[in-house]
Amino acid sequence: MDIILLGPPGAGKGTQAKRLESARGMTQLSTGDMLRAARKADSPIGAQVRDVMDRGELVSDAIVSALIGEHLEDAANGAIFDGYPRTQHQAEALEMLLAERGRTLSHVIELVVDEDALVRRIVGRFTCGECGQMYHEDFHPPKKEGVCDKCGSTEFKRRPDDNEETVRKRMEEYRAKTAPILPFYEERGLVRQVDGMGSVEDVAASIDAILDS
Ligand code: AP5
Repeated sequence: MDIILLGPPGAGKGTQAKRLESARGMTQLSTGDMLRAARKADSPIGAQVRDVMDRGELVSDAIVSALIGEHLEDAANGAIFDGYPRTQHQAEALEMLLAERGRTLSHVIELVVDEDALVRRIVGRFTCGECGQMYHEDFHPPKKEGVCDKCGSTEFKRRPDDNEETVRKRMEEYRAKTAPILPFYEERGLVRQVDGMGSVEDVAASIDAILDS
């Protein structure tokens, strides 16, 4: 089963994708994570996208669709597209990439959220520098302050684009370029809406109900 999680920055796409990976053996394909890995590795793509990402703008369609094409085979038990597609061009590219492999989308799950609350979610977010476990200053702090619950590391990091100004730009990009792709999927009868403002567990239960229906 291949699905898309769609929603603005901070809607909870990554949180839910990681849960679905461990609960169902599906594979999260996050273009944001792939781009950050390219930056960390100092690859030519990493150098090309660094400034664009730090401004909160979208990276070129060609780069992200190529990354998805490279990783699609990793998702033999189903892909969770997280942060992709983000433009009409990307939606069309994904359709082709899937069709070439005899795959089809099962659902496009739109996380419906209140954008003002999202700024708080993003600005308070941090991850373990060792294992990548996600935390939030208010909503999900480590059980013991300064120590990762999962691996015990004391190193944490924040994303360079997680400041209020860049978050507002990322939301603007979402409204202008990503939300308009919803009709493409509505015409195909694939869109299911989930209230993304509930607890992580409530959102997860709503997604499960859709996947099990
Ligand atoms: P990307 O990495 O995709 O970032 P994003 O879409 O802005 O999404 P986020 O990762 O910020 O949020 P999320 O929805 O995953 O929320 P999360 O689960 O972390 O993209 C970054 C950049 O890369 C883009 O700006 C662009 O430059 C480039 N890029 C990437 N893909 C691209 C593409 N396809 N085309 C062009 N450019 C591309 O949750 C956020 C916080 O809230 C966490 O702290 C979490 O713990 C907390 N939280 C989650 N759910 C809940 C809940 N229900 N209640 C309370 N707290 C919650």
